[in-house]
Amino acid sequence: DASDTEKGTYPHFMLKEIDEQPFVIRKIIQEYQAEDDSIKLNEDVRKAMQKTDRVYIIAAGTSYHAGLVGKQFIEKLANIPVEVHIASEFSYNMPLLSEKPLFIFISQSGETADSRSVLVQTKALGHPALTITNVPGSTLSREADYTLHLHAGPEIAVASTKAYTAQIAVLAILAVDTARVKGLDLSFDPLQELGIVASAMETLTDQKEEFDRLAKEMFETTRNAFFIGRGVDYYVVQEASLKLKEISYIQAEGFAGGELKHGTIALIEEGTPVIAIATQENVNLSIRGNVQEVAARGANTCTVSMKGLEKDSDSFVLPQVHELLTPLVSVIPMQLLAYYAALHRDCDVDKPRNLAKSVTVE
Ligand code: G6P
Repeated sequence: DASDTEKGTYPHFMLKEIDEQPFVIRKIIQEYQAEDDSIKLNEDVRKAMQKTDRVYIIAAGTSYHAGLVGKQFIEKLANIPVEVHIASEFSYNMPLLSEKPLFIFISQSGETADSRSVLVQTKALGHPALTITNVPGSTLSREADYTLHLHAGPEIAVASTKAYTAQIAVLAILAVDTARVKGLDLSFDPLQELGIVASAMETLTDQKEEFDRLAKEMFETTRNAFFIGRGVDYYVVQEASLKLKEISYIQAEGFAGGELKHGTIALIEEGTPVIAIATQENVNLSIRGNVQEVAARGANTCTVSMKGLEKDSDSFVLPQVHELLTPLVSVIPMQLLAYYAALHRDCDVDKPRNLAKSVTVE
């Protein structure tokens, strides 16, 4: 039950919350589906999306990474330009705004002080705000004009997992709804595609021993690790490296495959772990070229690819889902790898040192 606040038979909340993701996705489908199978969405949110000439997504941490994926949806499906900003930066260094901005605050807790500070500033300027949160009564939800609920159930582990996938799912639904209301012709049915995602997620959470083994091999003793991806995979590797850093204390970096040769490749030594995500057809060859570049310099490489794009040497092949929704499945192995890496290094998975579940000071 996603609303459970007990660990039950699980050793850690993080593992329980990773496992809950297929249920959360199905819950979101249910909550955002009208009786005639069309999308059910707050009319005021609809109007705000139609009125805006540019969306500004404001968030921190994992929610910021979900925002990057959301930008893809809103730009590619609904044809509205989107900027994604780290709340703490935006709040002290506001960019030039468009004429009719809409602010979307993404926050699991709805309590992040940096995001709230941006909300206060942009409200003072008279701009509308939508909060996408897991806690409907939270500060960001109460103070914004509109709220979309994530329906992920309480997230207890400090390292966010199910909130990230819920945020991406809700952003996909919002983008498609906006496109439909605009009259754009889309073949993409997000509710149906999310159903396929939920099953794919289950296939992955059923293969935990595989990720346990991989995590031991790649991360048990390493000092650092790199994650690479291109396109939307670049957004997911940023989340993957954050997960690993947060709970295993391995120095990790997620970056764009093409940027390797502009600096980071200098850090590759014999045995340095490099994890690549390859789910996008248009960059499949180039990301694989990047993997070869680091392998040639001694890196211990691991490629996670999407079915249909796989090569024999890949460490893991993900079940196929719609190309736009791949972050929802490619992030699961990354969450599990981080989880098992932390276990193999005897770290406190649910309560990592120096971190708080929700950061309520600026
Ligand atoms: C803290 C948490 C992260 C979270 C971030 C943003 O740093 O440890 O897991 O992603 O805050 O939190 P929010 O509740 O706004 O999504």
